[in-house]
Amino acid sequence: MISEKPRVFVTRRLPQEILDRLNSHFEVDLWDSDFPPDAYNLREGVANADGIFCLLTDRIDAVVLSTAPSLRVVSNMAVGTDNIDLAAATVRGIPVGNTPGVLTETTADFAFALLMAAARRIVDGDNYIRAGHWKTWGPNVLLGRDLFGATLGIVGFGAIGQAVARRAQGFSMRVIYTRRSDAPQPLGIEATSVSLENLLREADFISLHVPLTDETRRMIGSREMAMMKETAIIVNTARGGVVDQTALVAALKRGRPAMAALDVTVVEPIDSQDELLTLSNVLITPHIASASVVTRLRMANMAIDNLVAGLSGVPLPNCANLNVYQR
Ligand code: DGY
Repeated sequence: MISEKPRVFVTRRLPQEILDRLNSHFEVDLWDSDFPPDAYNLREGVANADGIFCLLTDRIDAVVLSTAPSLRVVSNMAVGTDNIDLAAATVRGIPVGNTPGVLTETTADFAFALLMAAARRIVDGDNYIRAGHWKTWGPNVLLGRDLFGATLGIVGFGAIGQAVARRAQGFSMRVIYTRRSDAPQPLGIEATSVSLENLLREADFISLHVPLTDETRRMIGSREMAMMKETAIIVNTARGGVVDQTALVAALKRGRPAMAALDVTVVEPIDSQDELLTLSNVLITPHIASASVVTRLRMANMAIDNLVAGLSGVPLPNCANLNVYQR
């Protein structure tokens, strides 16, 4: 019997309650693995699909889109959509869904956790004990940096940047930020808008919160790092590509900035032989800023909401290429 339900290709094994919900709406072709499909299997998977449920690890480029003649919607279980060729999707009239909002606070928590862990050397402390170095309390042991009274520079003052600023206020930090010139004026946050140059020169901590676009790719390079304080700590929970990673390795070796705390890298997963991992002034986690149980379920459900809308022919509740509806 031929199913009347639209066909959706799902690019990863998902929690059962999410699969159940997908199955109730769609004929699901599941890539039943904890790893993403390779380029060949991605193209095979989308060939007969009306919709795609994908993750930030799936590269949905013009070639993939062109192998899916019936495709009507792409739904990314992420707020970032730099893995998708939005322009190519728009030309094809395909709306692309994403998941803004639900991960704002979770991601801000994590950015702040990285900032604190780096400033107060929490991972160093744990390693120190496990290596058997803890012999006594010492006045010079594992000295870190204070947050209170320090200046936090937030690059990108959208929802997540502002959520980080609110946390910083609770720690009596001074907050300075940069934002897109057309972004709305943030309300209720004591923070000062500055140029990127001033932010880099003045901040003790720098936290990145811009999407990865042609404008932001490698926006923090050797020139920008040379402007930072020697004691500066840079935190990246945005996208690895926002930082010139080769320049970062060189800068960290020179000691300016003093430290980097990274949840994202240019290539993910980072190669275990990457030079970055040889540096003691790097704290690194595997792109888990939004990884709380509740938030990941919310993201998955939002991604389904986008699919349901797209395959019912109504505008997506959260669409990353809104201009698709102006065609
Ligand atoms: C996103 O949604 O873009 C985040 O990077 C996922 O953690």
